Amino acid sequence: MSGLPDSAPVPATASIGTREPLARVEAGLPAAWYLDEAHHRRELERVWNGSWIAAARCDEVGMPGDFRVVDIGEQSVLLTRHDDGGLRAFHNICRHRGSILCTEAQGRLRGGRIVCPYHAWTYDLDGRLQSTPRRMPTGDFDPADFGLFPVAVDTWGGFVFVHLGSGPVQPLSEALGWIPSTFASHRLDALVSGHRRVVDVQANWKLVCENFCECFHCPPVHPELCRVVPAYREGGAWGLRRDEQGRPIPEASAEYRAGARTLTLDGTARVPPFAGLDEAQRSTLYMPALLPPNLFLNVHPDYVNSHLMFPTGPGSVRIVYDWLFEPQALADPAFDLEHYVALWRVTNGQDARNCEWQQRGIRARVFQHGVFMPQEFDCHRFAGWVRDTLASATTGQRPI
Ligand code: FES
Ligand SMILES: [Fe+2]
Repeated sequence: MSGLPDSAPVPATASIGTREPLARVEAGLPAAWYLDEAHHRRELERVWNGSWIAAARCDEVGMPGDFRVVDIGEQSVLLTRHDDGGLRAFHNICRHRGSILCTEAQGRLRGGRIVCPYHAWTYDLDGRLQSTPRRMPTGDFDPADFGLFPVAVDTWGGFVFVHLGSGPVQPLSEALGWIPSTFASHRLDALVSGHRRVVDVQANWKLVCENFCECFHCPPVHPELCRVVPAYREGGAWGLRRDEQGRPIPEASAEYRAGARTLTLDGTARVPPFAGLDEAQRSTLYMPALLPPNLFLNVHPDYVNSHLMFPTGPGSVRIVYDWLFEPQALADPAFDLEHYVALWRVTNGQDARNCEWQQRGIRARVFQHGVFMPQEFDCHRFAGWVRDTLASATTGQRPI
């Protein structure tokens, strides 16, 4: 691998384009961008540390004193729930000599105190340094100067988002674009996870995003999905088309298996649609959304399959898949969870496998870059966003 120096020029595009089939075959991103360690560090800095990242579900830190640690590339972020009910986020490192603070992924902070495992410096839930055991006093030390480094935190749809950027950051509501209004009636904030899978996938994060952006691959890869969304056998990405507000375009909407009520292996439902949906929303069985770089939503009338993706290296990611339901559905002892989990477990696995095959293939010394076909316009838009963000030419984060 040749490597890409930090000073290498990044080709920029003026705009990430519209949701129309491409008029010509377009080049994908350079193969080295999926493989090269130096380039990966550049993406961590400019894309991942400069965007809102969906870190967890809010109920993972539901009670005061709860904590959750989320690793985003090389950065470890500590989420806590304060006594006032609000969320806090900090870099999960000590101000003394930089040790990781919380070494477990999740738990409860005893006495509401964050205690460093190294020399036991202790912080409160606001990140203020409370005690420094055995420190010999000197006149130059003011604990107020040694609070935890804060991280911007916000929520939408029951997800906790963090932003590792320094200085003013784009408001989350702006970054989310059309997503909140499109799913307002689905009340994602009220849903709870009935099933979670955490999977390590040996593929670059951008391959996973590109895979989500097109359904050109659905016929050969997803026979189960195509059985319930037969339109995917034909038109590829057409069923994913949306207008400028993110609403499905009626004439481009996917056609579902006759009688299907949701996306399960046979299209049947076991729980009612979400309470707030109108008739059109109940009959729109599949609405995907991607907020790059790491939030993926497969939204159905009665459940949601969400993915949070975290890079673990140039050629690997960890993906947290959740199946989200209304609490009353999960509370019913007769609820058939497997009925709802099966389709996306199969389909998510097929996508991961293909991304891993692609990651292996692009190492070939003859491969320079892939090409996007006309119906892979959202892949092209995503690639444009990556190029723009790396070149600092983007107007901000936005859904694809
Ligand atoms: S590094 Fe945390 S107390 Fe020393
Ligand atoms: Fe797929």
